[in-house]
Amino acid sequence: METITVNLGDRSYSVITGEGAVDQTAARLKNLRIGSDAYIITNAVVEKLYGKRLRSILKRAGFGVRVKVVPDSERSKSMKTAFDVIRDLASSDINKRTFVIAFGGGVIGDCAGFVAAVYKRGIPLVHIPTTLLAQVDSSVGGKTAIDLPEGKNLVGAFYQPRIVISDIAFLPSLPLRQVRAGCAEIIKYAAISDAGLFSFLEQNAAAILSADREALVHVVNRCIRIKAKIVEKDEREEKGLRTILNFGHTVGHAIETVTKYTVYTHGEAIAFGMLAAAEISVASGMLDKGDCARLRSLIADFALPVRAKNLDLDKLIAAQYRDKKFSGSRNRFVVLKAIGTAVVTEDVPLQILRKALRTIL
Ligand code: NAD
Ligand code: GLY
Repeated sequence: METITVNLGDRSYSVITGEGAVDQTAARLKNLRIGSDAYIITNAVVEKLYGKRLRSILKRAGFGVRVKVVPDSERSKSMKTAFDVIRDLASSDINKRTFVIAFGGGVIGDCAGFVAAVYKRGIPLVHIPTTLLAQVDSSVGGKTAIDLPEGKNLVGAFYQPRIVISDIAFLPSLPLRQVRAGCAEIIKYAAISDAGLFSFLEQNAAAILSADREALVHVVNRCIRIKAKIVEKDEREEKGLRTILNFGHTVGHAIETVTKYTVYTHGEAIAFGMLAAAEISVASGMLDKGDCARLRSLIADFALPVRAKNLDLDKLIAAQYRDKKFSGSRNRFVVLKAIGTAVVTEDVPLQILRKALRTIL
């Protein structure tokens, strides 16, 4: 078991990783004096697999427990679901000190995080991520959001959890496609800031995809450390540092929006986005073609798709202009200078953008 601290002054918190971390949940929450009643937000898949175990850990320690099951879909990151949850929470939260537990993947984390951030102007939040993607990325750093028909993650808040309990024992039940989706974010960390991790991934793709315990522990801990360091320097993405965590996300989010979240997983969309961003990097004279080819072949090693089908180039470009990173009408992309080094660039000419997008369509 390891504890990684995210140092953010009075908003600092621990991320507990390793097998069996979830068994420490009750003791950790008591130490934090977090409240009396857990409001667990989850979906039917996670509830069926692990709900009983979490409930009994909490009940044995004397916590009140209420479970709210939301649909297993990106659609749970909506006004409708969030307000349904908030009404349910309000109806049960009488004479209690309630805290929210986000128990599931990134969808649950973003929706539950949003609910915890806005209900009563903020009640304590605990993340217990159960997908690889949520363990390496979405449970750490305090971004919470719901989507609008106009675009992804357009309504949200920075709201840090009080603790993250990241137990790899949840991962063996994850479908392979979801393991690969998590690997896309792991490749992202390697590409933007850790050439050593990139080489590790090149050498250990098969081990990671087969959920080898040692390999998983290594990459999960490494990614959380990278994210913690970046978030500590630029918690609210105001200094241009945290922005690099969005490598691949401009195109990725546009693909998710245009395909209405039904065709590709978030990780698959990000894989396309990373490829497009690497092509932009090469065309802008920043990245060596060989490094771009290494990224392409690593993405293929993890059996992530490299070409999106039936997508309209112009719709994709239009959807990108909703990106939160864009400044007015100036486009802004995270690009690579080398494997392990990313920077933000603005005003990528439209012909470069179109050419880069054609490589993934
Ligand atoms: P997800 O939450 O949809 O989970 C993927 C699937 O795995 C779901 O069907 C879920 O029911 C299932 N599942 C979850 N845990 C399981 C387990 N242990 N065993 C078996 N099945 C399990 O998808 P995700 O990839 O975890 O998250 C994607 C979301 O995260 C997107 O909405 C994305 O925008 C968001 N995200 C947020 C941040 C952030 O910083 N807030 C960062 C990255 C991604
Ligand atoms: N996933 C991007 C971020 O947390 O900043």
